[in-house]
Amino acid sequence: MRRIGILTSGGDAPGMNACIRAAVRTALANGLEIVGIRRGYAGLLEGDTVPLDRTAIRNTIHLGGTILETSRSPEFMTREGRARAAEVIRQAGLDGLILIGGEGTFHGASLLAAEWGTTLVGVPGSIDNDVYGTDSCIGFDTAANCALSAIDRIRDTARSHDRLFFVEVMGHHTGFLALESGIAGGAEELVIPEEPLSSAELSDRLKEGFKIGKKSAIVVVAEGKKPGKSFRIADEVRKFLNYESRVVVLGHLQRGGPPTVRDRVLGSVLGVAAVTALQDGRSGCMAGEVKGEIAYTPFDDTWQKKKPLDADVMRIFSLLSE
Ligand code: F6P
Repeated sequence: MRRIGILTSGGDAPGMNACIRAAVRTALANGLEIVGIRRGYAGLLEGDTVPLDRTAIRNTIHLGGTILETSRSPEFMTREGRARAAEVIRQAGLDGLILIGGEGTFHGASLLAAEWGTTLVGVPGSIDNDVYGTDSCIGFDTAANCALSAIDRIRDTARSHDRLFFVEVMGHHTGFLALESGIAGGAEELVIPEEPLSSAELSDRLKEGFKIGKKSAIVVVAEGKKPGKSFRIADEVRKFLNYESRVVVLGHLQRGGPPTVRDRVLGSVLGVAAVTALQDGRSGCMAGEVKGEIAYTPFDDTWQKKKPLDADVMRIFSLLSE
């Protein structure tokens, strides 16, 4: 292994820069050349590369977003697109490639590796935390803290006005952000894809809380397929429950900002692990962290297997939110 590449793909996540920095420093320390591919798979298809040296990654560890930029590329998900990507990788003389991204990124990676035998190692970066094979994805902790700080602020105004608030957080297929920020923010209820709840049931549960003296309540809603579903839920709940309510959709606020300690450390650890994995001859897998240890998971499992919410944390949420 002489020359490797690195890219970020899918939704950006705070801590990706810490990972890029760690990979660059590790590669250089081991005598490898490393190049960045800009704008994820879209940039890869165009051969949009940039040499990475110590200067390129200096003073980036505290920055949110990704210095390499990112994209979602429908073209890469076609056979022709991946054939072009394999050719670009060959022409750029890359012996291996590190991909920082989420489920969609690793789906594409598994196809590229299967069709062209390209040497690829992934690192999980997604604020949704929905990648199987790692306890936490880069960016999740920062996003959960962002959602928590919003919930704390909303609680101030909710209790001052005796109101019911619906706070919508990100989470495409999963309720990780909702559960974590909900338990830490003392939310009354959760609406998450893992535990479907009708508006009638939700209203009944909220009524129970008001019966025992609560005057305000916070419901954390995972946005699901598209943002804004909380407005519908709030309208429906209004039919069952005559209580003044408001909706706050946090949206992309949760994707930005300086990474937390946890995300910087995780990004750094996994950046080192990804380069080491390539040097050890690994490919077709993602380097994650499971119970504090580095774990390598085949790409297919990362996006085909469903990562479950922690059952204990779910149980504790129900217990404490009453
Ligand atoms: O990064 C993951 C995610 O934030 C999902 O929760 C959300 O559904 C999606 O990205 C939004 O993507 P985009 O930035 O392309 O609108």
